[in-house]
Amino acid sequence: MWKRFSGTLQCVQCEQGLELVPIDEVVRKLASEHIAKGERMGINEKEMSACVDSGLLICHKCKLWYPILHSLPVMLPYTSPLHKEFLQTYGAHVDKIGPGYSSPNIEPVPGEGFVLKSFSKEWLEYSYDDVLWTWTYKEREEIFLAEIGVEPSPSTPSSFLEVGCGLGIITSFAEKHFGGDAIGVDLSLAALSATKHFADNPFLHFVESSLWRLPLQKKNFDLVYSHGVLHHTFSTEKAFKTISQYCKQQGHTYIWVYGDLSINESIVRRFAYGVELVMRPLLNYLPEWLTNLILSPIACAYILINQMQQMMGEQRQSYNFSRAMHAARDRLTPLFAHRTSADDVISWFKQEGFDPIQQLSESEIAPGLEADFRRNIGVRGRKAN
Ligand SMILES: C[S@@+](CC[C@H](N)C(=O)[O-])C[C@H]1O[C@@H](n2cnc3c(N)ncnc32)[C@H](O)[C@@H]1O
Repeated sequence: MWKRFSGTLQCVQCEQGLELVPIDEVVRKLASEHIAKGERMGINEKEMSACVDSGLLICHKCKLWYPILHSLPVMLPYTSPLHKEFLQTYGAHVDKIGPGYSSPNIEPVPGEGFVLKSFSKEWLEYSYDDVLWTWTYKEREEIFLAEIGVEPSPSTPSSFLEVGCGLGIITSFAEKHFGGDAIGVDLSLAALSATKHFADNPFLHFVESSLWRLPLQKKNFDLVYSHGVLHHTFSTEKAFKTISQYCKQQGHTYIWVYGDLSINESIVRRFAYGVELVMRPLLNYLPEWLTNLILSPIACAYILINQMQQMMGEQRQSYNFSRAMHAARDRLTPLFAHRTSADDVISWFKQEGFDPIQQLSESEIAPGLEADFRRNIGVRGRKAN
């Protein structure tokens, strides 16, 4: 965690600031373009290059401690595998905080433990190989710029928050195009992969955290972005209403969620959805080897479908077995994958005071890349009040 970022984080329980207690500190060598960006933002090189690899963030009001491990602040409202790993190595530092301090222990929202587990598995198997889902990074960057509909400017500092950032690739596009810091939060261990992969960029900050209790100040971001995340929670609507509170007045929020056409368009899609509904809870309880055994033939089917889509003119990167397994895991292992109508999403934006509100049309996406916007829904809005 970049040391200067600690001032941005707050307790997920009382929303107050935290004391940083570094254990292992390092000074990272910065690229000249980052030093220049820091100068434009008024941050000096020394302040920018200090990094805390392990440490504690402490809320003295709630008597809670949050670990920083492998440079990642773990700001979940409950204990996770990383807390256990932290205690094994740094337990003595926790003992020194004083009597009565503990890690947070708030009851997770329904199903969140399963969501954390399935996405950690899904992302830890994925590599940074220039393909995200079916796009090259370049294609994904083009889609991102079309999605947000905001003219990015490297000279204007803008604060960016990505909720459910996965590997952090889109967060990194935002940092490249906007002048300020970009923050990516994710419930799963993907946040750890992102922290390691982007360790040299002092304007990128990743946090393991749940969208239901973000360790960040509300009404504070110029752009809140979330793609493919909210439908994986127990309530897409409540999740949207929660994250939209982090958007500044006159700031923008964009979400992309599964649309109802993705299940209602044809009998085949309805059947596939029926299969999904049975498989999702089942796969969450089966041992990993059996889940892999069930997913392997489905991954082979995905490879065939991917080849057919390419033959029909869709601009998609080829699936190898590992990418196809990732796609099959994404389709069938998250406990929730709700579908919503565009009208419902637009009405949520209205209720939260956004105006204007725009649904992204397929024509805004470069030809050949628009398939994911045909049956699913991307909506953006500006926070008016
Ligand atoms: C399908 S992935 C999408 C990742 C990324 N946005 C992308 O487009 O590649 C969904 C992500 O949402 C994250 N997620 C699900 N529920 C979450 C929650 N309650 N809080 C934060 N992240 C969550 C998962 O861990 C997962 O990385």
